[in-house]
Amino acid sequence: MKTGCICGWVSENGTDERGECVDLLEKLRSRQARITVIGLGYVGLPLAVEKARAGFHVVGIDSNPDRVKMVNQGRNYIGDVVPEDLAAVVAEGHLRATATFEPVADADVVTICVPTPLDRHKQPDTSYIEHVVEASLPYLHAGQLVVLESTTYPGTTEEIIRPRVESLGLKVGEDVFLAFSPERVDPGNARYKTRNTPKVVGGITPRCTEMAKVLYENTLSAGVHTVSSTKAAEMTKLLENVFRAVNISLVNELAMLCERMGVDIWEVIEAASTKPFGYMPFYPGPGLGGHCIPLDPFYLSWKAKEYGFTTRFIELAGQINDGMPRHVVDLATCLLNKHGIAMHGARVMLVGVSYKRNVGDLRESPALELAALLGSRGAELCYHDPLVPSAELAGRSMRSVELDPESLDRIHLAIVVSNHDCIDFSQLMEHAPLVLDTRNASAGTCSDHVARLGTGSFASSEEGTGG
Ligand SMILES: NC(=O)c1ccc[n+]([C@@H]2O[C@H](COP(=O)([O-])OP(=O)(O)OC[C@H]3O[C@@H](n4cnc5c(N)ncnc54)[C@H](O)[C@@H]3O)[C@@H](O)[C@H]2O)c1
Repeated sequence: MKTGCICGWVSENGTDERGECVDLLEKLRSRQARITVIGLGYVGLPLAVEKARAGFHVVGIDSNPDRVKMVNQGRNYIGDVVPEDLAAVVAEGHLRATATFEPVADADVVTICVPTPLDRHKQPDTSYIEHVVEASLPYLHAGQLVVLESTTYPGTTEEIIRPRVESLGLKVGEDVFLAFSPERVDPGNARYKTRNTPKVVGGITPRCTEMAKVLYENTLSAGVHTVSSTKAAEMTKLLENVFRAVNISLVNELAMLCERMGVDIWEVIEAASTKPFGYMPFYPGPGLGGHCIPLDPFYLSWKAKEYGFTTRFIELAGQINDGMPRHVVDLATCLLNKHGIAMHGARVMLVGVSYKRNVGDLRESPALELAALLGSRGAELCYHDPLVPSAELAGRSMRSVELDPESLDRIHLAIVVSNHDCIDFSQLMEHAPLVLDTRNASAGTCSDHVARLGTGSFASSEEGTGG
């Protein structure tokens, strides 16, 4: 009988049969393990900081030299990281960054947090994962734990990482340990951060799962939930994000119906939210954005095809959500028309251009498509977003303009795309000649010059409602 070690490798007399396992577990528990975090972005930097705060020695690897430099100077560039936390762990010598992969050789744990975009055919682009695994191979050795955190289709860890690691002659589950743990960080969420969001982990073998579990138990304050495989952990993340994409599309569809029926969707959502069970609110908007919800579901629908399966909910949700920017531009055209102004030549200000409230991330933001569509209809564009000082919109580099009476006086229409707390909406409502509000930032404002997505503001007009 084997006792004394969660992975069952210590014999009754206390001698370990597999030094790697016992050593690694001990290092994880005592926080002596050296950790590399590959990819220091929205996911990787908060994780690196948390691991360093927990007492681990962390080296971040990133191909972006500016990010490497900033980390080494203790300067923050990710909204959810507390700047003082980053500066402190760098000053204490618990975190440093580099662009080379040599630190993998000294690491006990390698975590991978690189992008997983879609290519232009909406197919998964796993090349970042492949690239960093290949670059790590010369330095990988027995006794290490490798954890993939990038969101991806079920099967990635087994199909892409495992064969490469095993090509070194290492046996996964015995010599090295391989697991998937989805990152659930919700940028801008004031309550739940990396530290207090529970982690899900699934390993290739039970020993791999246990290693990853011990790592996160010793890093974060929230619990760790284990699942039976890497595939189940990968699927868990996709279930979470498909759930959001589908529910947002449902409420977007109902918002468009409410416009025709002269009902206020925001009022309806508020009323439905009083039900203490069986309902949770989702809100309509100008379209999906960010690096997760618009992309992740398509990782699953792509993989499903391998099984001869069509993920109809994902496809339908994608159609509805992808159609929202065009719907908003139709509403804008209708609103201007109602006031005798043609879209061609109209001066339009986008207010809040990042993809969601209180974050400065422009990736996949609906503002990008809105700008392109408005530009193609001949509108002259400017934007205001205190969180995005400059942006490339409709093929032009722009800087955020002030939201003051003078700049608002120069435009015909303002479209609210993101409702950051730092935007002065009372100023906007008071001075903009016309406002199309896609985020209910004007709730409570009763004025002819303000129209809200998903409300009766447009019911009197056929144009733009498709009615
Ligand atoms: N952003 C989110 O809210 C979020 C939430 C949960 C999960 N995720 C997932 O986490 C993963 C990472 O997303 P992110 O938002 O942190 O991306 P990001 O673009 O913010 O960060 C990725 C980092 O990886 C670096 N990188 C790219 N190629 C590299 C290479 N070859 N070697 C070293 N570094 C490299 C980039 O320079 C960048 O700093 C994705 O799979 C994403 O779907 C993101």
